[in-house]
Amino acid sequence: MKIEQIFTSCLAEMAYYIESNGEVAIIDPLRETTPYMDRAANDNAKIKYVFLTHFHADFVSGHVDLAKKTGATIVYGPGATAEYELHNGAHGEIFNIGDVTLELLHTPGHTMESSSYLLRDEKGKEQCLFSGDALFIGDVGRPDLAIKQGELTEEDLARHLFNSLRNVIMPLPDDIIVYPNHGAGSACGKNMSKETYDSLGHQKEVNYALRADMTEDEFVKEVLTGLVAPPQYFPKNAGMNKGINMDIDSIVARGTKELSLEKFNQLVTEGALILDTRHQNEFIKEHIPGSIFIGLSGGFAPWVGALIEDIHQKIVLITDFGKEEEAVIRLSRIGYDNSLGYLPNAISIWKDAGNETASIEQITAEELAELNKNEEISILDVRKVSEYNAEHLVGAINEPLDSINSNLENIDKSKTTYVHCAGGYRSVIFGSIAKKNGIHNLVDVAGGYGVMKNVPEFEMTEYVCPTTLL
Ligand SMILES: [Fe+2]
Repeated sequence: MKIEQIFTSCLAEMAYYIESNGEVAIIDPLRETTPYMDRAANDNAKIKYVFLTHFHADFVSGHVDLAKKTGATIVYGPGATAEYELHNGAHGEIFNIGDVTLELLHTPGHTMESSSYLLRDEKGKEQCLFSGDALFIGDVGRPDLAIKQGELTEEDLARHLFNSLRNVIMPLPDDIIVYPNHGAGSACGKNMSKETYDSLGHQKEVNYALRADMTEDEFVKEVLTGLVAPPQYFPKNAGMNKGINMDIDSIVARGTKELSLEKFNQLVTEGALILDTRHQNEFIKEHIPGSIFIGLSGGFAPWVGALIEDIHQKIVLITDFGKEEEAVIRLSRIGYDNSLGYLPNAISIWKDAGNETASIEQITAEELAELNKNEEISILDVRKVSEYNAEHLVGAINEPLDSINSNLENIDKSKTTYVHCAGGYRSVIFGSIAKKNGIHNLVDVAGGYGVMKNVPEFEMTEYVCPTTLL
């Protein structure tokens, strides 16, 4: 038996590959199919099942493509309905994968169809639980994403989750390993640990949601406190996961098409967005006017999903050489399937044709401290509210990047504004979107707060542990 956790840091997502005696089960695959098919081919094994723990909201799964290519059966928990063929597993149903089994355990709460899968080895001993978004390491799945107006409230779902945890998951043996669908950084929970797995027994000791003496009302209160609004693309991705979408091979073929400058310009004129995915340092130095920056080196997919409001937006890409396919796949993981191609060697081609490039002014933290000493300047901190509340530069105003589309008018165009985030990624996204919207007098602070807090001239608010503020 082989169990592999496949971690994708951009989405803090964990898919699972399980192989036994020539048969394979995949749990919660991302949009692309090759990582799973290549593993099965390597093991000379056949993908028999694609299990989904629930209808994901934070990414679009490729389960339909994977099933089509391999003949595998798609399995969801009780009550799941979709446009494609699936097997509705029942609570307690056993699935054979080679010499091991997976038992479906219905664990509603995060969503109503949410299910976990308990793996028993060749000897019938419980080994691990693929817990989806029912139980994370250090947290549980948020119960507010699947509320249905007039039918289910987030409190109803929280009560379901309490019962799933107490009556289905907590009675399992303490020594089983919990393999969740997400880790720290995912918006599917609020306070996940960095670890990507743990024993159930240890989670019972350290996970606030599994506290032995917790009442149902206390659980509901704690789970629902401090939830921030989900990113705008979540309901759209949840909808796509119930439908049949454009297949990944066609998306990649179209998105990785090399464009001539003429075709590139034509697509932009027709409304395509220029998305520059290079490193922020490259973008700052030189970019094509009107492009926005969201780099592959950071939380690319979640930021695309949070900031590009139209999921059907047509996109033309500027990428580092050889990164075109990665950009297209990472866009499709959150349902942005309309990549129309890329401009190769973009900056040179652009300039060779006699076009001007644009840049973003940048200063160091030390230079900013000097300016701050001598005059009253406007400093914008674009980190999350929780990060700002934990610690910030005295006098800096918080304007989180997440809300830039609704808050751009708050920026005073008449004066220079210095923009920083934690490390220099988000502030460049902010600057690029502001620039595209006609705000040009922004100056980026290199290295962001991480560097600023070590400059002695700056006065910072006292550090408060962020978790106490959630
Ligand atoms: Fe989820």
